[in-house]
Amino acid sequence: MIPWTLLDTAAIPNNGGELKFSQRDKEFSIRLSGIRGELMNSRVYNSEKVLSELGCSHLKNRKNAHVLVGGLGMGYTLSSALKAVDETSQVTVAELIPEVVKWNQGPLGNCAGNPLQDPRTTVRVGDVKQLLNTQKPTYDAILLDVDNGPEGLTHSDNNWIYSVVGLKEIYQVMNDQAMLAIWSAGPDYLFEVRLKKIGFKVDTRVVRARPGKGSKHTIFLAKKV
Ligand SMILES: C[S@@+](CC[C@H](N)C(=O)[O-])C[C@H]1O[C@@H](n2cnc3c(N)ncnc32)[C@H](O)[C@@H]1O
Repeated sequence: MIPWTLLDTAAIPNNGGELKFSQRDKEFSIRLSGIRGELMNSRVYNSEKVLSELGCSHLKNRKNAHVLVGGLGMGYTLSSALKAVDETSQVTVAELIPEVVKWNQGPLGNCAGNPLQDPRTTVRVGDVKQLLNTQKPTYDAILLDVDNGPEGLTHSDNNWIYSVVGLKEIYQVMNDQAMLAIWSAGPDYLFEVRLKKIGFKVDTRVVRARPGKGSKHTIFLAKKV
């Protein structure tokens, strides 16, 4: 068995611990420090890809669509969003941790086909929240994979995204018929209720971590109607 080599580490803001970026042959891993486990592995990305396929399915024939991706990770959601929209569209990706962007510009780039090099991509280093509280309709799709989901946050500042206050602000920055797609490690009935109360039309899908196998993840699809 080839041993893991630690390539780099990065601090998570607000004393959130550390990310450890490692490589073993062609496989990459980003782990959270302590016992919090693996955040991403370059071999396991089916639900991250499907997040964009479902969240952008209404944009197939749309010109000049604007998609916001929250959380670059290993770039699979971003890459899949770029495949889902046409050449006149743009995709903005927000990533909290500068080193994650650097890793994607370097060794991680090939994993998802170098989506940061696509001329339609704009990277914003910082909290996705800053792009979600502008209070004017801006996005045709918002794809969020910044944490475990509404429950069991790894980064407590992300609570806002799943709260009534946060969801109301997100609703305001969505164009009519836009889709909010949120990745979650598991189902959350109360979160669905919260989305519906705000006015979203909600659909929930279960998606496997690998095609046809692996953990069952949840994708919340919330449409602004
Ligand atoms: C599970 S990974 C995303 C994986 C990604 N969907 C992919 O395809 O590889 C979560 C990412 O979100 C970032 N993140 C966490 N909170 C964030 C926030 N509030 N704003 C922007 N990025 C955030 C983390 O640093 C991490 O890179």
